[in-house]
Amino acid sequence: MTLIDLDQAATTATRRDVLEAMWPWLTGEHGNPSSTHALGRRAADALADARSRIARIAGVRPAQVVFTSGGTESDNLAIIGLTLAAIARGRDRHILVSAIEHEAVLESAAYLERWHGVEVTRIPVDAGGVVDADAARAALRPGTALVSVQAANNEVGTLQPLDAVLAAARTVGALVHTDAVQYAGWYPLAGLAALDAVTISGHKLGAPKGVGALAPDARHDERGMAGQARRRGNSA
Ligand SMILES: Cc1ncc(COP(=O)(O)O)c(C=O)c1O
Repeated sequence: MTLIDLDQAATTATRRDVLEAMWPWLTGEHGNPSSTHALGRRAADALADARSRIARIAGVRPAQVVFTSGGTESDNLAIIGLTLAAIARGRDRHILVSAIEHEAVLESAAYLERWHGVEVTRIPVDAGGVVDADAARAALRPGTALVSVQAANNEVGTLQPLDAVLAAARTVGALVHTDAVQYAGWYPLAGLAALDAVTISGHKLGAPKGVGALAPDARHDERGMAGQARRRGNSA
């Protein structure tokens, strides 16, 4: 019997060309990119090449790309990291997320609510599953720390009004994150480069499970996540 998988939004098989590209780096070329010997330097070059390619696709600078273990970790890092960093810089303990975010976003927001006293406003959607940009605008406050609205929904595929959300958030100086896990591969990611952080996941696009990235904006580079990741030699 032939199996027809109609749920490729959940995950995809790893593509042969992806496996072939990875194979040398999983076998003979197994260096640690932080090592100073030849094996390590070759791994560091390969990592830099991968970082540049993702940066080109995402329309950001290579130094902005933070590798993660997937969409969930990228969302956790963005929601919790950006919110706590913004609060440390004087923003209020208030964030907005859409009511139809993936659990990775909703649970990160709930964590902030429970353990860090952050007030979370969940923005409703209309009958078609589109985030209500007017409700987002109305919920924003002068000190709101972060707004997170997905680019495309994981259940019904609706595209969200990110331009309107971004414009509204900018009027109060709030950071904006988008979960673009279901958007990447279908629409150009470079169109999201004006946002403060973008989540992507490899296994929706023919890469193995356990590969993802977050592209935080340049302004967070040195003191924030990308800078910290670089100082740690982010190589996952
Ligand atoms: C919109 C969205 N965000 C995040 C995730 C989590 O990604 P990952 O499975 O790479 O952790 C998914 C996976 O289904 C998703 O659809």
